[in-house]
Amino acid sequence: MNILITGANGQLGSEIRHVAASYPTFDFVYVDLPELDITDEEALSAFARTNEIQAIVNCAAYTAVDKSENEIDVARKVNADAVGNLVRVAESLSLKLIHISTDYVFDGSAHIPYNVNDPVSPLGAYGVTKREGEEHILKTSADAIIIRTAWLYSAYGNNFVKTMLRLGCERDTLNVIYDQIGSPTYAHDLAVACLDILAAVTVISSGGKVYHYTNEGVASWYDFTKAILEKAGIECRVNPIETKDYPTPAKRPHYSVLNKIAIKEQFGLSIPYWRDSLDACLKRLLA
Ligand SMILES: NC(=O)c1ccc[n+]([C@@H]2O[C@H](COP(=O)([O-])OP(=O)(O)OC[C@H]3O[C@@H](n4cnc5c(N)ncnc54)[C@H](OP(=O)(O)O)[C@@H]3O)[C@@H](O)[C@H]2O)c1
Repeated sequence: MNILITGANGQLGSEIRHVAASYPTFDFVYVDLPELDITDEEALSAFARTNEIQAIVNCAAYTAVDKSENEIDVARKVNADAVGNLVRVAESLSLKLIHISTDYVFDGSAHIPYNVNDPVSPLGAYGVTKREGEEHILKTSADAIIIRTAWLYSAYGNNFVKTMLRLGCERDTLNVIYDQIGSPTYAHDLAVACLDILAAVTVISSGGKVYHYTNEGVASWYDFTKAILEKAGIECRVNPIETKDYPTPAKRPHYSVLNKIAIKEQFGLSIPYWRDSLDACLKRLLA
């Protein structure tokens, strides 16, 4: 199967490259800006035809959550309109499509993990545009799924784990939010999940459907930071603080744990616990 990875230089795209050799029956085509801009439907369609693409994993997104508040039009072009392009290309060329979305479609007022069909209510522009992207997938008859994930980190790019490793070495004390609860997710594990799904079934959905994938377990950003520093052997005091004491342009959900039963049952996935996955990532980062 020829698989197009869009946004291939980002965290998830890079982790897909990292695990690609374990999928010898797949031929991967990796693209990112400026080579292929998913907001250009004609270019996307021509590229998919020329390269005889049979499946797309869309890792491309406008992921600057706070900047999105002042740049919603730019965010919407990538996170929403371009998903419409991907859907039309998938429909016209009969391609499979895995699209990645976010826990930030929820407002965080729940007390138990969000189910795939729970009502959405994004708090900020990024979440709004990602939800608009989901709506394109939900309306399609193409073989397409949405996988919502959360709190992604990886061996690549800028992410929370790398920032905490750096700040932990630079400072004696870090103030970190403890009243936002979610599930840290190693992009390597999500990459494996996407490819295992494509390898496991010939039809992934027959019409748009939502799934959730994060690592198992829950943590606050404070818990996550403590684990990162302890596992890396960095001595630095971590103070738990409240969201109100760390104001950001975009509001974030206080609770965004996702229920993963559907993806586990449908595709037979077994999902690693977040602390075990953090160990695996730190082993790579600190090697
Ligand atoms: N990071 C998280 O914590 C998180 C949490 C929940 C969900 N997600 C979702 O997970 C997915 C993967 O996230 P990630 O962290 O891997 O993102 P990322 O590291 O920001 O990578 C996104 C990639 O897409 C590229 N891109 C942007 N606009 C594009 C366009 N018009 N055409 C083609 N490529 C374009 C970016 O290029 P430039 O860098 O040049 O812009 C970047 O290489 C996204 O859908 C994101 O919304 C992420």
